[in-house]
Amino acid sequence: MTEIKDRWALVTGASRGIGKAIATALSTLGCNLVLHSRSLEHTRLLAEELSANGVHVKSLAADLSEPDQVAKLITEIGSVATQIDILYNNAAIMTPYHADVYQIPDEEFHRSFETNVISPIKICNALIPAMIERGWGRVINLTTDMDKQPQFAPYATSKAALRKFTQDFVPILDGTGVTMNALHPGWLRTDMGSDQAAHSVDTVIPGALVPVLLSGFICGKEFLAQDYSGLSIEHAIERAEHGQ
Ligand SMILES: NC(=O)c1ccc[n+]([C@@H]2O[C@H](COP(=O)([O-])OP(=O)(O)OC[C@H]3O[C@@H](n4cnc5c(N)ncnc54)[C@H](OP(=O)(O)O)[C@@H]3O)[C@@H](O)[C@H]2O)c1
Repeated sequence: MTEIKDRWALVTGASRGIGKAIATALSTLGCNLVLHSRSLEHTRLLAEELSANGVHVKSLAADLSEPDQVAKLITEIGSVATQIDILYNNAAIMTPYHADVYQIPDEEFHRSFETNVISPIKICNALIPAMIERGWGRVINLTTDMDKQPQFAPYATSKAALRKFTQDFVPILDGTGVTMNALHPGWLRTDMGSDQAAHSVDTVIPGALVPVLLSGFICGKEFLAQDYSGLSIEHAIERAEHGQ
């Protein structure tokens, strides 16, 4: 299993839900954190709580639907952390259900693609070259298995675009020590997933950590967090590496 103690991770959308669960799990492995959300106040308590695990924790704020704020975020990352080794592009927005699929406002597509695709890609572009230079990095882009539900088209198509970006990046990363993978967390009880969802948010661990902790070079794959639910981290890694 790959050691991530003293590495730095940026988790976008870390204030609640899946991002919070991932950030918390990373901190227990000794990984330093940059917690992102739309307001510094949203991650203040979590930062205090995770610092108690003996790791460095910084917070940054940016609305990922606003290009100016994303540009500022990218500049600020360099001032709070010496380097980012692990990136979870987790923050995203979901669009409302539209019974009339022919009348979904353009604005919902624009906002979804800006927040869920373009901003995560800009963050990748800002961080991956330095990971390649250092010879190690892990990028995980949160995706979904939502299918045949055109009522949610802005959200679902944006996530499909992010998956495509992840898959297409493989040749760039081959032989660099840097991997980029997708992660479908499962349908989870979060603000986005709703209280009707099948699984509690804690079931995303250890699966969400698998693409980071694997020692082999697996790139461009979509990991399903629920495949590892209930396993220890060690067993989850073994299952991912040897199919057991
Ligand atoms: N929950 C599920 O069942 C499910 C299923 C498949 C995939 N996913 C994916 O998993 C990821 C996390 O989902 P979740 O259920 O944990 O969502 P969530 O509970 O709604 O949390 C969303 C997080 O993203 C941040 N965020 C929201 N809008 C933002 C914006 N415009 N700019 C920047 N940050 C923003 C929020 O920060 P604030 O505190 O600032 O609001 C929060 O930290 C998403 O990529 C989602 O698509 C979730």
